[in-house]
Amino acid sequence: MHGTLLTYGNKRYLWAATIGAVALLLSYFYYASTTVPSGSTVWGLAYGWIGLLAILMLMFLGIRKRWYFSRLGTLQGWTSAHVYLGLLTLLIIPLHAGFHFGWDVHTLAYLLLVIVILSGMVGLFLYLTVPTILTTYESNMLPDKLEAEIHEILKEMKQLAADKPGLFQRLYQEEDHRCRELEAQGWRTLFTPVNPHAILAQRTHDLHNLLARIPTSDQEGFSQFAGLILRKTELEAYLAAQMRLKNGLEAWLYVHVPASFAMLAAVGVHLVTVLYY
Ligand code: HEM
Ligand code: HEM
Repeated sequence: MHGTLLTYGNKRYLWAATIGAVALLLSYFYYASTTVPSGSTVWGLAYGWIGLLAILMLMFLGIRKRWYFSRLGTLQGWTSAHVYLGLLTLLIIPLHAGFHFGWDVHTLAYLLLVIVILSGMVGLFLYLTVPTILTTYESNMLPDKLEAEIHEILKEMKQLAADKPGLFQRLYQEEDHRCRELEAQGWRTLFTPVNPHAILAQRTHDLHNLLARIPTSDQEGFSQFAGLILRKTELEAYLAAQMRLKNGLEAWLYVHVPASFAMLAAVGVHLVTVLYY
């Protein structure tokens, strides 16, 4: 993606948002110099409606994303506009409220908006960084295939270790354990950065040190065994990176989307309260 979400279409949405923010601030300075700002003045209400319109357009991305045959702009263009418009609402609503917040449902709506925006920033960060981490792995292997190959290697190691010294058995058991650990990690992979080159270099170093403890008669077998361990290490690092990508690209949406709907509901209550009471 190479940062194109932020720079899409010659940075057109970055420019639009910058111009929008400047225009909003200028209008607010004029407004604040003539009236005491609040959500119920003409200007305050205008900012409120602009904010609501922006929020509805932001929510529309959920529909546009699943509307595969739409000719209404590209999905990437929509997402780029979404990011900037989303950030702009952070300004629009305080202008609407005249920077006045209390302990009420109005402020709850704004707090939820802030949560949506923060989670959106996390998502954007992941979209921009995670795919570049993955391209450092040349292969395009699917997780299922990776797991199958790892288990195949383990089986080979077990056979090879059968009539060898205890060290072989111990190494096999360690590898078997490591494999189960990785499978059980799940969401934790999100927080454990994977650097396959460093992991591989460390294991190569460790195995090389062990070689000195192997009787000469078993050294050839050990080289074969070490080859399997290194191949397995490589596959595991790749699998961990894939799990991390998958978890990472989805986790933030579990905050972003429910918080969006909660915010919309709070805005609904806000509107009913201010317009009818
Ligand atoms: C059509 C859209 C909207 C209209 C007509 C509207 C109307 C109003 C009115 C009349 C007030 C003044 C209430 C008072 O002084 O007690 C107000 C305040 C406020 N509104 Fe809105 N609003 C709109 C959209 C929004 C949205 C989308 C949000 C947030 C996501 C929001 C957040 C707030 C906040 C935080 C205040 C200040 C509350 C306070 O002073 O404690 N409003 N709004
Ligand atoms: C009021 C503010 C916002 C609302 C209501 C909102 C709402 C949404 C919704 C409903 C989706 C669709 C998710 C889906 O159906 O899978 C979405 C996607 C997305 N949002 Fe937001 N969002 C807001 C602000 C932001 C901000 C500020 C950012 C980034 C800085 C952001 C980044 C994203 C991204 C990258 C996606 C694309 C997800 C995907 O394609 O899988 N959002 N947002």
